[in-house]
Amino acid sequence: MNNYTSIHDIKNLSKTIQEAITLKANPFQFDTLGKHKTLVMLFFNSSLRTRLSTEKAAKNLGMDVMILDISNTWNLEFKDGTVMNLQTAEHIKEAAQVISQYADIIAVRAFPSLKNKEEDASEYILNSFKTYASVPIVNMESATAHPLQALTDAITITEHAIKKKPKVVLSWAPHPKALPHAVANSFIKTMQLLDVDLSVTHPKGYDLASEIIKDTPVFYNQKKALQDADFVYVKNWSSYDQYGQVISQDPNWMITKEKIGNASCMHCLPVRRNMVIADAVLDSENSIVIPQANNRTFAAQIVLKNLLEQLSS
Ligand code: CP
Repeated sequence: MNNYTSIHDIKNLSKTIQEAITLKANPFQFDTLGKHKTLVMLFFNSSLRTRLSTEKAAKNLGMDVMILDISNTWNLEFKDGTVMNLQTAEHIKEAAQVISQYADIIAVRAFPSLKNKEEDASEYILNSFKTYASVPIVNMESATAHPLQALTDAITITEHAIKKKPKVVLSWAPHPKALPHAVANSFIKTMQLLDVDLSVTHPKGYDLASEIIKDTPVFYNQKKALQDADFVYVKNWSSYDQYGQVISQDPNWMITKEKIGNASCMHCLPVRRNMVIADAVLDSENSIVIPQANNRTFAAQIVLKNLLEQLSS
């Protein structure tokens, strides 16, 4: 693995999941692998879990960690050939090369604008770091993907599954703000690689990109989709066709105790209680969101371990 910007950077997903579960049982097994190596984490956006779990993962491997909130530094320019006479003070070409001299691995969080579909799809922030940095890049959630979250979700489903081929349903739920498609995209891509019975349910107008969905069944009837589910992964996303718009806040799509049945309820967090998922679900034994969040550390740790091993090979 030279970078981790997509779940497809993992060559053998099932093997990596098992390695993460083994690492979780003994998290300090490789605590000298990262000695004298530095992870620089760059945040263009807010984070609780990604920030803390990735730092913890790096420290479990013996790495040093430096964190920079991009809002506290120079405004970066990403366009080539621009006359920089407006708000941007530093070009990504210099910034990425300079940071590479301080870092052995760079991790980046950069959400989409949700205003310009083509620009967001180009992943210009993440890809500029890949182009101009001279060290591996880790995606801590970009415009279209959240592969650390998706690996976490795969680990969590593997740990909690009691059937060989569980039924996994990704359900849209209402939210007051326009949210990105990244978590849903990466979750679907990852589940498509595993031996699960995957389906997606959302209201009309919330179809995700066809290149993500491929042949995964999509239901506009949530009740029908949730029938006999083993795992219900709840997530809001804004419309993809009417790009970045909130076209429904229908409270009937909230996940309730009645809807969840015996299934395990997952969410990447943060979650808006009683808007996305009812208290009665989040406070019940059906909810596995807390152990799911715990697995963020071990997903990040197995990724950083693979990158460190590649650096020293
Ligand atoms: N799930 C997730 O990425 O959480 P944060 O936004 O808090 O990092």
